[in-house]
Amino acid sequence: MVELLPSILSADFAHLADEVQAAEAGGGTVIHFDVMDGHFVPNLTIGPPVLKSLRKVTALPIDCHMMIENPDDFIEEFADAGADWMSVHYEACRHLHRTLEHISQHGMRPGVVINPATEVDLLIPVLGMVHHVLVMSVNPGFGGQSFIPYSLKKIRRLTELRRELACSFRIEVDGGVAHDTIAQVVEAGAELLVAGSAVFADGRAEQNVRELLQLAQTAAAE
Ligand code: DX5
Ligand code: ZN
Repeated sequence: MVELLPSILSADFAHLADEVQAAEAGGGTVIHFDVMDGHFVPNLTIGPPVLKSLRKVTALPIDCHMMIENPDDFIEEFADAGADWMSVHYEACRHLHRTLEHISQHGMRPGVVINPATEVDLLIPVLGMVHHVLVMSVNPGFGGQSFIPYSLKKIRRLTELRRELACSFRIEVDGGVAHDTIAQVVEAGAELLVAGSAVFADGRAEQNVRELLQLAQTAAAE
């Protein structure tokens, strides 16, 4: 089943509750929460205090995408603040297996993320322990960038690996997912579709989510 995950990075933070409720009304089913530290990626965003406030205004699962060095240091704090899913970058984790175990032990669904230049097959040893694999289809750090077409090959490869290894992880894609690209990512096999600027940039979050989902569902049915 395809799901649309509004990324609040492009939302109006002064009206976050309204923005999230609009995206939810349009059919968004998981809220994507981008955490950046100015080191792993060249940008700074939000952390546990905002997560805690957001937790009070939505019942949807919150998917924390950790674009930070040493994500282990923050697992407990994010779990306490109300995170449901947590994905960590392959490139940021020296002991990825242990980090994923810690995320599970704190009651969150563990996910692993790869940058555009990282090969999918490197994840084979951990594919059996993750709830989702997140394929970055832009270089992480900013919203509104163009989709990198090679990501489609990576999504297809993940569907093969899932079958070959008899795993159950879900395939998530993040970056440049918009009205003109969403059908391709669904056709390649992605199910969890993150969209930031395509949802929030023009103040029409509810309609945008509805339209994107419709395009995704049509592609999934073909
Ligand atoms: C980028 C973030 C994304 C971002 C995507 O590093 O991980 O979640 O919000 O933005 P769009 O959908 O505008 O590419
Ligand atoms: Zn993200």
